[in-house]
Amino acid sequence: MTNLIYMTDSYRTELAAQVVSCIKKGSGWEIVLDQTIFYPQGGGQPSDKGTIKGKQGLATVKHVRMLGDEVIHECALNGTIDEKESVECSIDWNARYHNMRAHSAGHVVHEAVRLVAPYLDPIKGEHGKSAYIEYKGSLPVDKKPLIEQQGNDLIRQNLTLKTEFVTLDELQKRASYIPEHLPKHKPLRILSVGNYPPIPDGGTQVKSTGEIGEITITSVDNADDHVRVYYAIPPNESDETKNDTCQSVDSTVSTSRHDTGNQAIKVDQIMTAPQFIGLLLDAQRNAKEFITISDKSAEELRLLLLGPKSELGRLTKQIRQVPASDRGNVGVVVNEVKSSIIEAIAIHAAHSTTSKPGFDLNWADVTIPGIRPPEGHLHIVSQAITEITRIFERIGFTRVRHPEVDWDYYAFEALNMPPHHPARDEWETFFIDYPGKPPGTRPGLEATRRKQIVLTPHTSNGQVREMEKGKLPIRMINIAKCYRRQSDVSHVPMFHQFEGMYIDKGVTIGDLTGVFNFFVKNYFGPDRNVRLRPFHFQFTEPSVEIDINCGICLGKGCRLCKEGWLEMAGGGMVHPNVLKAGGVDPSVYSGFAFGWGVERAAMMKSGTKLDDIRLLYSNDIRFLNQF
Ligand code: PHE
Repeated sequence: MTNLIYMTDSYRTELAAQVVSCIKKGSGWEIVLDQTIFYPQGGGQPSDKGTIKGKQGLATVKHVRMLGDEVIHECALNGTIDEKESVECSIDWNARYHNMRAHSAGHVVHEAVRLVAPYLDPIKGEHGKSAYIEYKGSLPVDKKPLIEQQGNDLIRQNLTLKTEFVTLDELQKRASYIPEHLPKHKPLRILSVGNYPPIPDGGTQVKSTGEIGEITITSVDNADDHVRVYYAIPPNESDETKNDTCQSVDSTVSTSRHDTGNQAIKVDQIMTAPQFIGLLLDAQRNAKEFITISDKSAEELRLLLLGPKSELGRLTKQIRQVPASDRGNVGVVVNEVKSSIIEAIAIHAAHSTTSKPGFDLNWADVTIPGIRPPEGHLHIVSQAITEITRIFERIGFTRVRHPEVDWDYYAFEALNMPPHHPARDEWETFFIDYPGKPPGTRPGLEATRRKQIVLTPHTSNGQVREMEKGKLPIRMINIAKCYRRQSDVSHVPMFHQFEGMYIDKGVTIGDLTGVFNFFVKNYFGPDRNVRLRPFHFQFTEPSVEIDINCGICLGKGCRLCKEGWLEMAGGGMVHPNVLKAGGVDPSVYSGFAFGWGVERAAMMKSGTKLDDIRLLYSNDIRFLNQF
């Protein structure tokens, strides 16, 4: 397999390579090298010409072709060239640079055609003897001046031509057009002109459209539902574009020639620090692209990419062209670029084995450790619900479920809050009118009471529903979604509550304290305690608010809690009217109930102070990942 150097460095004119084979074919010779800068004919671009020089022979390269994954240099040979011999390659830069400009011009013409006639399907481009792009469809001949104008606009904008190596998948996703036969043995590369959508491309390209010079659309030829747009470019400005020591510098310098109104900057002229840094970054990009497709060892890569003959090595030698006052800063960038390349080589080496066969995308090394797919976890509220359930289960409470959309009766009336009772206001409820006759009947629940449905504003609707099951004693833990007409930094319209209720003979408020203490110690930690404070609810008598001592000062009072206690839950002894509504005889049975928000409990436990509680339900994975 030949390493295709021209794919990553189209400005390289000389290269030291090793002969893989040199075989006589007819009157000439065919040479295969381990790496090459010779472009093999293909993709509409003619092959390069040049020389391959050995110790005892000089081959003149007449034509270059790709065969499988090898590049065959067809040569006339004077003397001998042996297998494994080190040779010096040199390409006819003038011809190549013209080809390169013509090739890039083809892409510019294509973008111009797309702007004028976006409905045309591209078929191929050619720039040998004549240069054209061919499309399926037809194009009015009078569009010629417009295409030329659009093309020259793109040239005047001096757009960057950027190449990137991609996987087949990525290519299919990003490319604006996919050719029928993608090359099998070349790495897949895409080219974008400025910000226009990329196009698959394996040719050599100039760095920016300015290098092409003014194009002429010579003709628009329609025939048999195909149209060819012929174009021409000016000759190479001069041989100045070729320089033996630093082709890459040259190329960018020639780009800036267009910026500076056709005044050529020669390489031995002073360069500004930004110009130099630009070249450094180009070298860095080229090196990294090369690393991703290369099958060379780390040692070889270091020599090729950082050695004295590398693009970076040659560039570093030119640092004297930068004004002395800027050299310090530029030197820092040189070092950064070097270390980033060293790092890329190390990463590459860690991920490849010595036998990695280059560009074959079907090849896979099954010994490389896999990439862990992102792993999800339960939402912090789901985690809290599970934990709360587990704690109450240990003292005989069973998790139950009751409707989250329920009759007004269970949410309010049965809880000692008849219609229009002012206490209802505290629950900021969403009401839904129930049209028509309510379904079913249940003893004790008159049809008139079933007129309205609510999105349950608390889990207390489960109290009477649980009693209606008719089984005593009751030890329930009801955890469900609740809804209230509130949305601000400390309220969400949908949240969760957990509601505990214990009904049996002889239950007292001491049981409430004990059960809640058990929960608090298990959920928050053994040094936490509860205290009850008198309060008022319609459905409990007496009613209390349950506080928990602050986790920081443990009740002494600190900056966070002020008084040493944090408000935790509401509760009390179930009101006799509520017991009656549930069919339980208050003269025999008594019970307690309590209820509070799961979100608050979870936040208190993790010590998280949320500026905005709505974050919990905004589905932002960056936020949720933290819990
Ligand atoms: N349901 C009450 C609330 O939402 C809390 C509570 C539950 C109070 C059980 C007493 C008994 O504030």
